[in-house]
Parts: sequence; C-alpha cells; structure tokens
Amino acid sequence: METIILDAGNKENIELCAGVLRDGGLVAFPTETVYGLGANALDEKAVAGIFSIKGRQVDNPLIVHISSLDDVDPLVDFVPDIFETLAKRYWPGSLTLIMRKSRMIPDNVTAGLDTVAIRMPEHPAALELIRTFSGPVAAPSANPSGRPSPTKASHVFDDLEGKIPYILDGGACELGIESTVLDISGDIPRILRPGFVSYDELKEVLGVVDAAGVDFRGEQSLEKPMSPGMKYRHYAPKAPLTAVCGAPGKTASYIEARMNDDTAALLFDDQTFSHPNVVLFGASDDYATQASLLFDALRKIDSFGVSTIYAQVPSEEGLGSAVANRIKKAAGDNIVVLSDLI
Ligand code: TXA
Ligand code: MG
Repeated sequence: METIILDAGNKENIELCAGVLRDGGLVAFPTETVYGLGANALDEKAVAGIFSIKGRQVDNPLIVHISSLDDVDPLVDFVPDIFETLAKRYWPGSLTLIMRKSRMIPDNVTAGLDTVAIRMPEHPAALELIRTFSGPVAAPSANPSGRPSPTKASHVFDDLEGKIPYILDGGACELGIESTVLDISGDIPRILRPGFVSYDELKEVLGVVDAAGVDFRGEQSLEKPMSPGMKYRHYAPKAPLTAVCGAPGKTASYIEARMNDDTAALLFDDQTFSHPNVVLFGASDDYATQASLLFDALRKIDSFGVSTIYAQVPSEEGLGSAVANRIKKAAGDNIVVLSDLI
C-alpha cells in the first residue's frame, strides 16, 4: 500500500480520510499532543487493525476521541458528577477521562476493561476529521508500540509507511507529549499518566486527586495495572538510554565524562558541552519546550546509530514530571540518580 501525506488544512483531504474511517480503514491525524492512528471506535475489526499495525499488546486499551460533548453520553454507562467541571475547563484539550463504558463500545477498544478512556482533542484537523466522520475515533499514538510517539507527519511516515493509506499533516504537534489520563470512574479521581494538565492544577480544581500510582513505571508495582499501557517500556530509541536525574550542572558533568564516538546525549540548552552527538531539547527549566522537542530529539539520536545514549531528566515539578516520566520510561531500568548532597 502506498502511504500518502496530505495537508490537514484542506477540507477535501479531511473528507477523504473520513471516508477511509467509514470504510473500516485506518488513517493517521495530528492532535495537539502527538499524532494519532485512528479507526472507527465502533468497528471491532477496524480497531483490531490498530493493534496489528502497531504491534500493540491486546491488554492495552485505546483512547476514544470525540468532537462534541453530546458524543459522551452514548459511550458511557453513567456520567460522574465531576465530569462537567472537567470537560468545561479542559475540553477540547489534553485531558483524557476514564469512565465506566456503555455496551456500545467493542471489547477490544477497552481491552476487556469495563471503563473507557475519552478525549476531545483541540487540534482543528482532529476535530474536523471526527466531525466529518461523525462518530467516535479510537486512536493510540501513531507509532509502533515501544517507539517514541510521533510529533510530526514525517515521524509517522518513517514508522508506518506502506501500512496505512493516508497521513494528515498538521505540522509539528504543539504540546509534544501525550494527554494526561485521569480516571474518574471511582470515588477518588486518579491520575494514571501525567501530562500538560498537571497534578497541581487538577488538585486545585477537584480538591482531592490521587497520583500515588504514577511513578515512571505507572501502575506496575500494583497487582493489576490500572492503566495497562504504563507497564510497558515506551518511547524507546533503538540504543539503550540511561536517564540521569539530579541538578543539571551535575548531570551534565556526569554525562560529559562518559561521552565517546559511540555515545550520544540528550541535553538541556543551558547545560551542554561540545560533542558531535549532542541533541538539545530546551532549557533546564523550560518544561514546555522540553515536552515539544523530546520525541523528535529521541528520533534524531536514533539516526546517529550509536550504541549508548544518556539523557538529562528535568526536575519533577509541574510539567517537568510529565517530561521526566517519558524519559524514565524510555530508559526502562537504566536510571541514575545523582544526589544533591555529594
Ligand atoms: O495524547 C494522547 O492521549 C494521544 C493522542 C493521539 O490522543 N493518544 C495516546 O494513546 O497517547 P495511547 O494509546 O498511546 O495511550 C493511551 C493510554 C495507555 O497508557 C492506556 O493504557 C491508557 O491510556 N488507557 C486507555 N484506556 C484506559 C482505560 N479504560 N483504563 C485505564 N487506562 C486506559
Ligand atoms: Mg502511545
């Protein structure tokens, strides 16, 4: 199959892609977070195609994307009280809400769970595609499982060429990391994946929010993972990556001492040193820039073909914790913490 990149700003292209969704096919589209690989969320066979193209574990549920608040009711068993407050404030936007699902949703969308993840994206092309298709669109990030999420149409092309007919190109994703996932199906709202909508913000809006399960392994430490996707190594470049946590000056020196021809480093703009295999991803305290550049930077580092990668990890405050989460997950178990005291 030939894969064609289409301008997402063109109405005819949106219609073409909505037609593919209607016919049970898959298309990639931009959102403000990362690119998604979409299928008709109510078509079990189309959804199965997402799992096979991504090589995704079948126990890892998908997010259902909608374009209007009216779309929620038929998808859920009931609407929790706090839903309206959250939706009014954050939708369209980068907050995914987990609620108890209705019977309308095929089991493979939710990986057999009795809850469903729903998000109304903010990117105009995503909204236009969902509206034109006029139904809910199941969409994970448009990368093969385990790889860095795509934040440009070219990333999707590199990963999925020949596997899908169209990629809607809406430019580089503004935010660059995936949505915050908040479970509101139980008594206490619980963050399952950190993102731009931060713990502090949600706590202010909701009063009480549980984020205890969110370390870089997500819920892995619990017997039954609450957000199944969080237990897998993710976002990983091809070579092993070591995440280096600590004060930026210290982590830069630690990494510099270990650089050679076969090593690459992901560094803060203000904490760099001279070496050909360095990729910068924003100043040490500029978490928004780090988020927007992180996945592209990991892909650039891949292109060096080195066998070892080091990355500086930002401080885990506000949005920094979402960036740190992605880097640590890319590192798997390779995490070095440099104490401030030494
Ligand atoms: O920003 C985003 O959320 C992007 C764009 C395309 O919308 N999508 C995305 O999807 O990141 P994906 O599939 O890569 O990540 C979805 C995460 C996974 O960790 C999955 O396990 C979790 O959401 N999830 C989905 N449904 C769930 C459910 N019912 N209960 C718990 N976790 C769920
Ligand atoms: Mg993903």
